[in-house]
This record gives sequence, structure tokens and C-alpha cells, in this order.
Amino acid sequence: MVFHDEVDQESSTELTLASCSQQFGDASFEAVDVEEPRKPIAHFDRSEVKLGKQIGEGYFSKVYEINGFQLDHHGNDHYYSPEEQELRQAYHQQVADANGSGRFVLKHLKPRLLQAGRNDFENAVVDLVAEATFLQQLQHPNILSLKGLARGGTDAFRGGTYESYFLITERLSETLAQRIHRWRKQLQKGGTDKNDGSNKTTSTQRLGAKCHYALQIAQALRYLHHHQLIFRDVKTDNIGFAQDDPDKIQLFDFGLCRKLPESNQLDDVFRMSGGVGTRRYCAVEVCRHQPYNAKADTYSWGIVFWELLTLQKPFADFTKEDHYKFVCELGGTPNLSRHSNVIPPSIQTMLRHCWARNVSKRWTMAQVCDSLQDIIHTDDDLQYPRAAEPRQDRLALQQHRQSSFVWRGTRRRSKVTVAA
Ligand SMILES: Nc1ncnc2c1ncn2[C@@H]1O[C@H](COP(=O)(O)OP(=O)(O)OP(=O)(O)O)[C@@H](O)[C@H]1O
Ligand SMILES: [Mg+2]
Repeated sequence: MVFHDEVDQESSTELTLASCSQQFGDASFEAVDVEEPRKPIAHFDRSEVKLGKQIGEGYFSKVYEINGFQLDHHGNDHYYSPEEQELRQAYHQQVADANGSGRFVLKHLKPRLLQAGRNDFENAVVDLVAEATFLQQLQHPNILSLKGLARGGTDAFRGGTYESYFLITERLSETLAQRIHRWRKQLQKGGTDKNDGSNKTTSTQRLGAKCHYALQIAQALRYLHHHQLIFRDVKTDNIGFAQDDPDKIQLFDFGLCRKLPESNQLDDVFRMSGGVGTRRYCAVEVCRHQPYNAKADTYSWGIVFWELLTLQKPFADFTKEDHYKFVCELGGTPNLSRHSNVIPPSIQTMLRHCWARNVSKRWTMAQVCDSLQDIIHTDDDLQYPRAAEPRQDRLALQQHRQSSFVWRGTRRRSKVTVAA
């Protein structure tokens, strides 16, 4: 067994890896009832994937650019159907785009999880397997595409390392958190968008783009909810932009996504793990460990939209205790009236519906989509695209891609078992 970095070579560790492959076979998550046929994916042995620089990390995993595939033809071709062999070959040939930038990324668990103990590691494995299982079945223009998986599925953990099981996905150009951060910096420097000859601030002019992004996120969530899935980790770190289209949203990081129990009633709530996700985006009932349903995602979507509109972190200086007191006990929400220069009244009303404490009064993502579409269509200022992104924006994006900065996610969570 090969271990990297600081991982201990204790026998208990080996047990953990082996038990993961036994306990969390790929069949442990229910199938999602999608109409479309599954998109084909390719399987690779870890030794066939050449990694480049690390481009991101979350609480549980690290994400690397893929520099190349060294396909192993030594007697292993029987593993693959002719179609899969073709796909593996195609990825090998298309590994970089015309600018030499990697098209694919690989995500695997962090080694420190093994040291943290059996439970942490096994929970993280559950999340990664859930992510692979759901991504493989879902097909939506605003959901990141799964391209490949470790050969042998979770069996790859057997006698392997923390990184033997992995996911390969398309590479994103940047996350929404990164774009917001970039826009905020530009605004602080007094950036204005002279593209249409007006002297409005960049922030105001971008309202159309922001609504366009928020609508795409809402449509991805509406699709998940339609298939009885709850995402549970809607935040700007888990939303990205497609590499080939700087305005196309891609929802990713499906580790906390779960299938909801069957129910005919829209407002039924279910007993699932509380405190799941990222606190500042979390619905009140999730923070309070109370039963919840898909509308917990609506609440988080509202927080993300507020962050996008104001370019400010929600509950920025709040401690865990401050947040609990203000949001869970006093019913506080991010401030709307103070930001009326960047949040039109129609959107303020919509956000209030998203943050309703009474879950049966809170809007569904279908209602959110309808309302936002109406708002966009009836307000000339919100039409998008109105003008191409300013040149300075494109240059900044290029610089960001070339930098060696590693973006670190912040999710903390408790256990993730669904106890419906
Ligand atoms: N396909 C991708 N293209 C570019 N960057 C990515 C991609 N996937 C992930 N990243 C980067 O890596 C970070 C961590 O990835 P991800 O959110 O999937 O990991 P995680 O460990 O599940 O995170 P969390 O802390 O939310 O639990 C992302 O926030 C993002 O910055
Ligand atoms: Mg994440």
C-alpha cells in the first residue's frame, strides 16, 4: 500500500480503506428517475492520470488539473467496451484546450481524513460516492458533467490509498465566490464599466448578469427537486462557470445531495441530519436540527442571490453563536433595505419569500424560477446579455487562471446519514 504526505501507515487505516469498499458500494444510493439515458463516462486507473497543479480544495477533498492520460494497454483493454475505449482515447487527445489549459480536473479525498479517524473518513467516502452516483445520472445544462471515475468504483479503495477513488469532471473557469471576489476588488478600485458609454457603476450595470446567473442556479435546483433530490450545500463556492462559456452556470460538489423519501405533499418535512452544509447559507430549520425538505435549498439560494447582488459575505463577522442567536432565535436575515441601491423592490420581495421561516409559506424553486423570469422580462434594466463583459474582466479572468492560487472551501458539517 502506498501512502502519501502525512498519512500514517497503521493497520487500522488499511482496515478503513478496505471497509469503505465493502460498505459503500456504488449501489448504496437509490437510482434517480431521470428521463434521459445516462451519458457515458470513462474509467481510469489512478496510475493512468497525470496531475498538474492543485486548483482547489474543500473541507474534504483536493482538486487537481489533469495534465494528461497515459493509457495503459498492457492486457487491461478487456476492462472496457469498444465505446469506452474510444472515450478514453478521446479524453487523452482533448486533454487541453487551444490555449493549453487543462479541460478536466480530478477530485479525491484529503489524506488528513484518514488520520481524523474511521468515521470521518467513511463519511467522506459516502459523500464522494454519492457525488459520483448522482452526477452520473443527472443531465442539466447548469450541472457539472461527470467525465470519468476510478476503475473498479469503490473497490479502488481496497488495497489502495486515500486517492485511489476519484472523480473526473470538466474544468470550471472560476467559481461564483471567485467572481464575486474579483468584482468586489474592481469596485473597491472604483471600477466603472464604460462599455455602453454610461457612467453607472459596474455593480449596477451587472444587475442583468446577476439575475441571469441566479436564474440558472434556480433552474438547476428546480431540476433536482423535480427528481426528489435535495442539494443541501448551495453556496457560492459550489457554483462555477463553464470553461467554454463565461456566463454559463455549473452547479457542482454533490457530496451532500440526497434523495428525499417519496411523498405526495409538497410541504412534508423529513428527519435528516441537521447542521449539514455551510452555516451562513443554511436554512433555519437545518441549523436547528429540525425536520426539513427541499425548500431548505430555496433559503440557501436566497442567501447566494443576496451575496451576488451586494458582493458582500452574508453574516460576515458573525461567530457561530452570533449566527445562531440572530438567525435561529431572533429570525434575522441579511439586510435588504440598506442595499436598495443594488436590490430592486421586486427582488427584495422575492428574497423575503425565500427566507420565510414557515416552510409551508416559503417558495419552491419552481415559484422562484417563474417569478425571476417575470421580473427579468418586465424590467429593461435586467435584460442580459446587454453588452459583453468588459475587457478588464476578461483580462482579470485570464490572470486568475494563470495564477497558482489555490482556492480553499470552508464547509463544515456534522454526520450525513439520512434518517427519513
Ligand atoms: N471542476 C472544477 N473546476 C475548477 N475548480 C474546481 C472544480 N471542482 C472543484 N473546484 C475547486 O475546488 C474547490 C473544492 O471542491 P469541492 O467543493 O468539490 O470539494 P469539497 O471538499 O466537497 O468542498 P466543501 O468544502 O464544499 O465540502 C471548489 O470550491 C473549487 O474552488
Ligand atoms: Mg465545495
